[in-house]
Amino acid sequence: MKQQLNLGLIGVGRIGKVHGEHLAYRIPRARLAAISDVNLAEAKAFGGKLGIGKIEADHHALLNDPEIDAVVICSPTDLHAVMIEEAAAAGKHIFCEKPIARTLKEIDKALDAVKKAGVKLQIGFNRRFDANFARVRRAIASGEIGEPHLLHIISRDPGPPPIAYVKVSGGIFLDMTIHDFDMARFLIDEDVEEVYAAGAVRVDPAIGDAGDLDTALVTLKFKGDALGVIDNSRKAVYGYDQRVEVLGSAGAATVANNHPNTAVISDAASVRRDLPLNFFMDRYLDSFLVEVTAFVDAVLDDKPTPVDGVDGRAAVALGIAARRSYEENRPVRLEEIEA
Ligand SMILES: NC(=O)c1ccc[n+]([C@@H]2O[C@H](COP(=O)([O-])OP(=O)(O)OC[C@H]3O[C@@H](n4cnc5c(N)ncnc54)[C@H](O)[C@@H]3O)[C@@H](O)[C@H]2O)c1
Repeated sequence: MKQQLNLGLIGVGRIGKVHGEHLAYRIPRARLAAISDVNLAEAKAFGGKLGIGKIEADHHALLNDPEIDAVVICSPTDLHAVMIEEAAAAGKHIFCEKPIARTLKEIDKALDAVKKAGVKLQIGFNRRFDANFARVRRAIASGEIGEPHLLHIISRDPGPPPIAYVKVSGGIFLDMTIHDFDMARFLIDEDVEEVYAAGAVRVDPAIGDAGDLDTALVTLKFKGDALGVIDNSRKAVYGYDQRVEVLGSAGAATVANNHPNTAVISDAASVRRDLPLNFFMDRYLDSFLVEVTAFVDAVLDDKPTPVDGVDGRAAVALGIAARRSYEENRPVRLEEIEA
C-alpha cells in the first residue's frame, strides 16, 4: 500500500494557502508535489516559500502529471465543477472547496464524472471537523441527549465582505448559510424536507442594491420531524459568532464561541472578557487541518471520504430552496427543487 499521497494544489488564494501549508508541513502522509494558479507570480511566491518543485499557471499540467495522485481544488466557485470533471477524467482523487457549483445541473454532471472514474471526492465542509461541533454530533449519535427535537445554529460574520465579492458570491444562502445547512444535516444526520426563509437588508443598503441580503432566518423541517432554525447576519460587531444548541428528549448539547483566551476581568463596574476569535481563519484553522488529513487518510486507506458529493449537493439544494422561499414568501419543499 502507498505510504504517502502526492497532491497538486489548484488555486493559492486565501483558502488555498491554508491547505497548501498544511499539506506541506503538517500532514506527514501527504506530499505537496505541485501547485498551480493563473496568477503565476503568486504561485511562485507561495510555492517558493514552501520549496515546491513544480509550479504551473495551467492546472492541466497537474492533471497530466502521472506523479500526482490527488488534487485539492481551491479556485473560485465557478470553476469547481469543470475542474472536478477534468480531474476525475484524469483519474485523480479530488478534494474540492465548497460549494461544488451553484446549480444542481452542473453538480450532477460533475458527480457523474466522479462516479464513472471511480475516484474519491471530498467537499470542504470544514466545520464538521471542528472539535466542538464534532462532540455535539457524538452526543446525538450516541443517544446521550436522546432524540433531537430542536436545533438552533447562530452563524454571524464579524463584517460584510466587499460589494465586489457580494456580487459574485451567489447570495447569502449559497455563500454563507451553505455551511450552516451542512452543519444541520451533519448534526441531525437526516435530510431536510422543507425550508422557510425570511431575509432582510439591515447591515448595508449596497448589499441590497447588489440583489443580496445580509440578515436571514431559515427554519428547517427534517425528515424525522425535528425542527431547526439558522440565524445569519453579515455583521456582528463583537466578532465571529458561531454557536449551536441541540435540544433532545434527554438533554441538550451547546457550543459557545471560541475566545483567544479564557481570562475574565472583574472590577467594580463590570465583569468582562475579550471578544470571540474574529473570523474563520482563526476560529476554524484546526478544522481545515483535520479535514484535509481525513481526505489523505481516506485515499491512502481506501475508505469513504467523510463529506462526499451527496453532502455537497444537498447543501446547495437547501440554498436554492431558501432563496426561492424568500422570493416567494412561502415554505419550499426540497422535492420542488428537484422537479
Ligand atoms: N471552507 C471554507 O470555509 C472556505 C473559506 C474560504 C473560501 N472557500 C472557498 O474556496 C474557494 C476559493 O476562495 P478564496 O477565498 O480562497 O478565493 P481567492 O480569490 O482568494 O483565491 C482563488 C485563487 O484561485 C486562483 N485561480 C483562478 N482561476 C484559476 C485557475 N483556472 N487555475 C488555478 N487557479 C486559479 C486565483 O488566482 C486565486 O489565487 C471558493 O470557492 C470559496 O467558496 C471556502
